[in-house]
Amino acid sequence: MPLMQWDETMSVDVNELDTQHQELIALMNESYEAIQRHDEPALYLLIGKMRTYAAMHFETEEKYMRENNFPDLENHQKLHKKFNEDVNEFQRNLFNKTNFSQIFVFLSRWLTNHIMEQDKKYLAYIKNDPVSTEESGSLS
Ligand SMILES: [Fe+2]
Repeated sequence: MPLMQWDETMSVDVNELDTQHQELIALMNESYEAIQRHDEPALYLLIGKMRTYAAMHFETEEKYMRENNFPDLENHQKLHKKFNEDVNEFQRNLFNKTNFSQIFVFLSRWLTNHIMEQDKKYLAYIKNDPVSTEESGSLS
């Protein structure tokens, strides 16, 4: 069973950001699977990928917030920064054989709560831009 799953209740009504949330969740699940089959080289690569992807995603999200004058941008940026730091810390400690599964349960809870409680706050401020809407026509 995957660690976490995206569903419609997690939608932030911006196609580009929903797609990125889905990709982040997929990376989280792949990492968790690598832990379960004790595949440390794969885990190491996936965490690297997740770090890069999360950083890129947060930048995109913050760009939407900035362009739409989302009032709570500064606070939201702090939460993103904390997540990046946690993942960095995890990667640094990877060879200390900490409890991988537990860390991923923590990260997945963080991500779910973050999307459901924090990201939802920008729903009223940010609208799909026409380009992303067109591009997403082929999705689903
Ligand atoms: Fe966010």
